[in-house]
Amino acid sequence: MGTTLAMVIVALALLFLGEHSLAIRSGSLCKTTSSGGERPHTVTITEFGAVGDGVTLNTIAFINAMYYLTSFEDKGGAKLFIPAGKWLTGSFILVSHITLWLDKDAVILGSTISDDWPVIEPLPSYGRGRELPGGRHRSLIIGYNVTDVVITGDNGTIDGQGSVWWNWFHGGTLNYTRPHMVELIDSKDVLISNLTFLNSPFWNIHPVYCSQVVIQNVTIIAPLDSPNTDGIDPDSSNNVCIEDCYIRTGDDLVAIKSGWDQYGISFAHPSTNITIHRLIGETNVSAGIAIGSEMSGGVSEVYAEDIQIFNSKRGIAVKTSPGRGGYVKAVYISGVILKNVQIAIEFNGQYGEHPDETYDPHALPRILKVTIHNVTGDNVTVAGHLEGIKGDDFLNICLSDINLRVTSRSPWTCSYVGGFSDFVSPDTCRPLKRKIYPESHCYNLSSNLQSVAIPNRITRWRSW
Ligand SMILES: *[C@@H]1O[C@H](CO)[C@@H](O)[C@H](O)[C@H]1NC(C)=O
Ligand SMILES: *[C@@H]1O[C@H](CO)[C@@H](O)[C@H](O)[C@H]1NC(C)=O
Ligand SMILES: *[C@@H]1O[C@H](CO)[C@@H](O)[C@H](O)[C@H]1NC(C)=O
Ligand SMILES: *[C@@H]1O[C@H](CO)[C@@H](O)[C@H](O)[C@H]1NC(C)=O
Ligand SMILES: *[C@@H]1O[C@H](CO)[C@@H](O)[C@H](O)[C@H]1NC(C)=O
Ligand SMILES: *[C@@H]1O[C@H](CO)[C@@H](O)[C@H](O)[C@H]1NC(C)=O
Ligand SMILES: *[C@@H]1O[C@H](CO)[C@@H](O)[C@H](O)[C@H]1NC(C)=O
Ligand SMILES: *[C@@H]1O[C@H](CO)[C@@H](O)[C@H](O)[C@H]1NC(C)=O
Ligand SMILES: *[C@@H]1O[C@H](CO)[C@@H](O)[C@H](O)[C@H]1NC(C)=O
Ligand SMILES: *[C@@H]1O[C@H](CO)[C@@H](O)[C@H](O)[C@H]1NC(C)=O
Repeated sequence: MGTTLAMVIVALALLFLGEHSLAIRSGSLCKTTSSGGERPHTVTITEFGAVGDGVTLNTIAFINAMYYLTSFEDKGGAKLFIPAGKWLTGSFILVSHITLWLDKDAVILGSTISDDWPVIEPLPSYGRGRELPGGRHRSLIIGYNVTDVVITGDNGTIDGQGSVWWNWFHGGTLNYTRPHMVELIDSKDVLISNLTFLNSPFWNIHPVYCSQVVIQNVTIIAPLDSPNTDGIDPDSSNNVCIEDCYIRTGDDLVAIKSGWDQYGISFAHPSTNITIHRLIGETNVSAGIAIGSEMSGGVSEVYAEDIQIFNSKRGIAVKTSPGRGGYVKAVYISGVILKNVQIAIEFNGQYGEHPDETYDPHALPRILKVTIHNVTGDNVTVAGHLEGIKGDDFLNICLSDINLRVTSRSPWTCSYVGGFSDFVSPDTCRPLKRKIYPESHCYNLSSNLQSVAIPNRITRWRSW
């Protein structure tokens, strides 16, 4: 009788768990205020003289189309339809209340002439271009202070033709920092969805000083050895939701940032309320989800769930340095599957890289309340490399329900960190050995342990 009852309980627990994960899978966490990009008016890029032969430069057509679209701003906005074809263009500036719609087999191609990407002022939170002093090339598609902008379609492609830029970078012939593919500055209510991004010169999608940004169901691809081709970099932005993305690039898949050293500290625009859901990807030299290294305006309330990272250098990384100031706090990452990853979890307090010599080495970042929960890993070399800063320990790092098949004999190295752990295999390092109690020490764990994690333990005991 007793055994039967136990089996019924386990079966019920499994049933609950099954339904729970099904419910998560089918739903969308990102709430969009836009109507998926539908508009009462539509114009086609050919109406502005564009030619989709891959050779004709169409920058003027895009500029004219945007100018024309401003007349619909107070009429529900309008859609710019990009039909099948190869539409070569230089950088152009978006306007508000528009949908840029790329049909199936429509490709927006970035010009391979650097002058078609004008040089603009550096961002105030960076003080200079990220890779060179001075200005930076303007992104292919850029919006300043726009609202209600949708970039979407039927899996059309935006191809930056970045290899020329990567060659200039490797050859040391760049005069200014490379351009991103899409950048939105000081903007709100932005949706980027149902598209493919190929071969960005630098970062792919960069919302900076933005609010209410949704990035959904995009594919981002660049060669694994292309320099700094980050996937999505929410920067000094809030209420950003990233969902159902496949990213395979030469740098971090998603990197949450908020400005650089003294410039980021004084500009003081944090990134907060960033959600990442169902991300799959691969990066040979960097991390699946990174926070930093530019985090000087502060980063808080990061929720990442259902993440699969394979063939990568790092799974999750928090990168910072003396001089950064700022903070990273209230981070909750859960439901991570790793395969063929060198370092599952990395905290790096000595990342280095400063904008100039006037940074303040006493401006120490505060890193606290980072919870990493429910991680499984196969063929992981090192479980954790957790390195804080002397005199500035990273605190309340909480690890729970972590199971990694690790090949290294010393799976964890930890210094200047403190925290708690529960159900971590291989056994974690001493500074994190204390059991998670009370749960309020750990960000977001108290609500979670009551509902979801307990049935998880029942199934674990049953199968192991
Ligand atoms: C993406 O495309 C699908 C299929 O056409 C559509 O149902 C969905 O609404 C689109 N999503 C967004 C966010 O544009
Ligand atoms: C941004 O746009 C709003 C209206 O859309 C306007 O009131 C504001 O002045 C603009 N700000 C800048 C810096 O251009
Ligand atoms: C994702 O986008 C593709 C086209 O790129 C579309 O066919 C599919 O329905 C979209 N899926 C969702 C969940 O929106
Ligand atoms: C969209 O196109 C890309 C590249 O062309 C392809 O890899 C991807 O599978 C396509 N996505 C969908 C949902 O069809
Ligand atoms: C850098 O400037 C030099 C001299 O003006 C110019 O020849 C070169 O094309 C520029 N490089 C790039 C990548 O624009
Ligand atoms: C967090 O951002 C989401 C959009 O991604 C928004 O719906 C939600 O209201 C925000 N939460 C708070 C507390 O602002
Ligand atoms: C991955 O990076 C390593 C160096 O860390 C390099 O040897 C290897 O060729 C890279 N693999 C790919 C597919 O780029
Ligand atoms: C743990 O994460 C995996 C992968 O995202 C997910 O399928 C599973 O439901 C999660 N388990 C719990 C108890 O949340
Ligand atoms: C394990 O992962 C490493 C990369 O970290 C990879 O080179 C190796 O082939 C993987 N081994 C197996 C058996 O997949
Ligand atoms: C984590 O906390 C935030 C804010 O309280 C909440 O919106 C979110 O649902 C929580 N997530 C989980 C998995 O408990």
